[in-house]
Amino acid sequence: MNIILIGFMGSGKSTVGKALRDLLGFSLVEMDEIVCQKTSSKTMTDLFAKGGEKLLRKTEALVAKDYVDQKRLIISTGGGVVLNPAILDNFKIVGGKVFFLNAPFELIAKRLEKDKTRPLFTNLLNAKAIYKDRLPLYHHYADEIVNITTQSPEELALIIKEGYFHGL
Ligand code: S3P
Repeated sequence: MNIILIGFMGSGKSTVGKALRDLLGFSLVEMDEIVCQKTSSKTMTDLFAKGGEKLLRKTEALVAKDYVDQKRLIISTGGGVVLNPAILDNFKIVGGKVFFLNAPFELIAKRLEKDKTRPLFTNLLNAKAIYKDRLPLYHHYADEIVNITTQSPEELALIIKEGYFHGL
């Protein structure tokens, strides 16, 4: 069974994914990185310049298909995968447990204050509107909700590990 990490930009999917990889010895799949590779983009900003959000969503769907049959993966998704029902439905059907890293917007805004790598997080008001729209989707797909406060990535990895083995 795979571990799927979902959540808004800046919720810590990548850092927690790395801590989980070190803890469990599973392989880590960074969807954003693979999406960039597949579109020959150096960065997400580069990808958006080429084909906008449309290119991102189309490539995310292709990347997800490539990993759907594999086991013992930690899949760190991009914050927008919940917009395409096929992605998480398929991950779940083949045996994936979805953990929603639920960080309050204030924490995310603080973390991403100086971030220049996320084309959909350039304006705080706009980002907050996207966050509000997405919240019900994250809740819908979550098998487990991990509330993010002050825990370290390693502490969060332990919480997720427990949740993962609990269901087996
Ligand atoms: C996006 C999240 C980003 C990346 C892209 C769009 C989104 O990933 O896929 O910039 O729509 O929420 P992270 O969640 O890893 O920042």
